[in-house]
Amino acid sequence: KILILDFGSQVTQLIARRVRDAGVFSEVFPYDVSDEFVRNYGAAGVILSGSHSSTLEGDAPRAPQAVFELGVPVLGICYGMQTMAAQLGGKVENGLVREFGYAEVRARGHTNLLNGINDFVTHEGHGMLKVWMSHGDKVLDMPPGFKLMASTDSCPIAGMADEERKFYAVQWHPEVTHTVQGKAMLGRFVHEICGCKSDWNMPDYITEAVEKIRAQVGTDEVILGLSGGVDSSVAAALIHRAIGDQLTCVFVDHGLLRLNEGEMVMDMFAKNLGVKVIRVDATDQFMGKLAGVTDPEQKRKIIGAEFVEVFNAESAKLTNAKWLAQGTIYPDVIESAGKGKKGQTIKSHHNVGGLPEHMKLKLLEPLRELFKDEVRKLGVALGLPYEMVYRHPFPGPGLGVRILGEVKKEYADLLRRADAIFIEELRNTAYEGVVVPGFDQDAAPRNWYEATSQAFAVFLPVKSVGVMGDGRTYDYVVALRAVQTQDFMTAHWAHLPHELLGRVSNRIINEVRGLNRVVYDISGKPPATIEWE
Ligand code: XMP
Repeated sequence: KILILDFGSQVTQLIARRVRDAGVFSEVFPYDVSDEFVRNYGAAGVILSGSHSSTLEGDAPRAPQAVFELGVPVLGICYGMQTMAAQLGGKVENGLVREFGYAEVRARGHTNLLNGINDFVTHEGHGMLKVWMSHGDKVLDMPPGFKLMASTDSCPIAGMADEERKFYAVQWHPEVTHTVQGKAMLGRFVHEICGCKSDWNMPDYITEAVEKIRAQVGTDEVILGLSGGVDSSVAAALIHRAIGDQLTCVFVDHGLLRLNEGEMVMDMFAKNLGVKVIRVDATDQFMGKLAGVTDPEQKRKIIGAEFVEVFNAESAKLTNAKWLAQGTIYPDVIESAGKGKKGQTIKSHHNVGGLPEHMKLKLLEPLRELFKDEVRKLGVALGLPYEMVYRHPFPGPGLGVRILGEVKKEYADLLRRADAIFIEELRNTAYEGVVVPGFDQDAAPRNWYEATSQAFAVFLPVKSVGVMGDGRTYDYVVALRAVQTQDFMTAHWAHLPHELLGRVSNRIINEVRGLNRVVYDISGKPPATIEWE
């Protein structure tokens, strides 16, 4: 296994992720673990992360000296390289220019780390690497025993190696995808240099995560707010695997879920997995609070506050609980990371804030280190249905932001049925294209549901005239929305086949009495947003 010491870079977990991708177990610990910890850990290799700090500051973080005395390979990345240089007798200087972003690095000295790796060869015959850099300081003098491994014009010592001791250091970030050969570099480090085999996989991850959860909570009881979304579902399945009945899930049904969603959640968890789930049907309560409210932001606030209220009231009944579990995943951690020294502050989800003080729940967040696609793979490995785990995202306020203006149960019921027809047709229509532009996928999409990032129906509280059979109708309108996006910050409207749109429209109008017109939203984000409210 590989020990990663974190000096507070935002991308440290990406190192762990790449090492996991290479099939090798790794764990991230703060840089200030003790020498004893390092000696007892049993690492086959150590990676030192980047940092916002400068080694030139008086109290600059240092790697435990034991790292360099273990006799195992060490890879320093960015700050990790600088502290390696500083701690082993080299010299670091404050660079006059910060180097940030794309750079081309010339590989030197035929080191084992970069052996056989380059992006292109210059006409002088130099092997070149396309990398991503982000640093101010740089190494001025290499420590004794090191040779030059790579350089750029502005950073003559961009990589160095002591192949005798198997110490390697790079100024760039091999863990980010912008470094084209980054994966290959880290792969060479863990396989060729550290001698680790690719034998670590999801089932192993589950075993380890289960042990960790058991060690953490002991015989205590745990509460988890189950929403039906991927993250809380996978967290529930994992924690249940670890501690069984010590886990109680609270599932708040605000009446703004998709068709049969509540039943599906109960079937999947309570029935199939045997998880203790308390379902709170708070539809009337939510509808009551939302009556007469038309402003989108106000609706969001009301739904959020009500959710906390209901969840807390239910949780307060579980007087033995000592832990609150959450499906926080790594991108949430980064998003909410303050300026804390190690770049990791705990996100206070809205449902932590208002829990009764006397409960003093501790936070259990078993997915904190995982990226979304890893969470999905974990979910499948835990036995959750593929369809559920690869579902489109669904907003917390649910249909509340998909019913324009005032929310009414009657509207929600119509919308649910229209939405279900749309989703069913998307799933049932084969996707013929090979790749979707600007859309990141694990595997080629098989149908239009998989070829879109998010798709749903929106209820428009306006009536239009129609004709059905012999009669005139005067009914509501739904809009269909389907987008393709990588990050949900920008999005294209999906070019759904006209036949598919036609089928959906026909079915909705024929099957859902009360709707007589279907329109398709062809706005991109920006300037529109994905949701209509
Ligand atoms: P917009 O509409 O801002 O949506 O383009 C971007 C993504 O965020 C989701 N979304 C929400 N998710 N609570 C959530 O949990 C919310 O209040 C919320 N509003 C939007 C939206 O579904 C899309 O995936």
